[in-house]
Amino acid sequence: MDGVDELRQKYLGLVAAAEDESSLEKVRVAALGKKGEINLMLRRLVDLDKDERRKAGISLNELKTEVSSALAAKKAAFADAALDEMLRTEWIDVTLPGRPRRSGTIHPVSQVTEEVTAIFADLGFEVAEGPQIETDWHNFDALNMHPDHPARQEHDTFFMARNESDDGPPNVLRTHTSPVQIRAMRERGAPIRIIAPGRVYRCDYDQTHTPMFHQVEGLAIDRDVTMANLKWLLEEFCRAYFEVDRAELRFRASHFPFTEPSAEVDLRCSWDAGQLKVGEGDQWMEILGSGMVHPNVLRAGRIEPRDWQGFAFGIGIDRLAMLKYGIPDLRNFFESDLRWLRHFGFAPLDAPTLHCGLST
Ligand code: DAH
Repeated sequence: MDGVDELRQKYLGLVAAAEDESSLEKVRVAALGKKGEINLMLRRLVDLDKDERRKAGISLNELKTEVSSALAAKKAAFADAALDEMLRTEWIDVTLPGRPRRSGTIHPVSQVTEEVTAIFADLGFEVAEGPQIETDWHNFDALNMHPDHPARQEHDTFFMARNESDDGPPNVLRTHTSPVQIRAMRERGAPIRIIAPGRVYRCDYDQTHTPMFHQVEGLAIDRDVTMANLKWLLEEFCRAYFEVDRAELRFRASHFPFTEPSAEVDLRCSWDAGQLKVGEGDQWMEILGSGMVHPNVLRAGRIEPRDWQGFAFGIGIDRLAMLKYGIPDLRNFFESDLRWLRHFGFAPLDAPTLHCGLST
């Protein structure tokens, strides 16, 4: 039969020349489709005599197989090329660090809470927690502030709404972390060494006061804990927190209902051109309140004051953050301004530890 070689040349040439899958498909239809040239030729076999038909049949079938496998090979080559192209253009370098601009930051309050916790954990203090909606008894009475104690007025307390049927005073948003002392003593007994960081609430608002702020409470009770232990502990804390070699503290006689004696603690420092330096200079900055736990408070915590004694202290976390990181206005802490958060925030994966550095 004539024309088989021409068809072979024609279609193998077209397959080779096809530039993409759709032109290859056109070649397939033209050659092997129902009305394709090779099929039409196969149909014309009936016109031939028997011998001729056999020979032509064989050579046409060979041609069909040849063109089919050329088509299949070319199709596979296109698929390979497409995959190569995809691998070349769509790869991701999983070893690249995340884009810092796109990730969130750790808020200074969280950062400082972690720093403070790391330091006191190293000194043997466990973290304790209590509720932010607190009973009047835990927030005041148990801390030796009876209902008409004048110190209650200083706390600018938020009171919770109360059902008419309830007896007794309404619950409050805790005004300090000191009630956690009571809860921890009642739960754990003595000896005890805890810190309690958390949110507290007072109705106050200016550059250094916000209605919600943060404190960390400290409590250590044992047989013979003294104020000397307190002073050493707080100096260690200040050295570690402000990341300086030396920190000097001054205890100033003060009054808190829940401690006797009580002391406000000042830290030696200098302010040079708005820059705080800790451990040098001739200025003193108040940083916390403290004292020896009052026997009435121990009793409220179900601890026998004849057998046990200890100290407590309360520090403002936000104020610690402002001092260390040079943040001038407390109100900005809680405004969620992304520019502020990016500027003062910390890298999310750098957890503060004593061995790796607290703030670096
Ligand atoms: N609770 C006090 C306040 O909020 C701070 C404080 C002072 C806590 C003396 C103490 C302490 O544990 O001993 O102002």
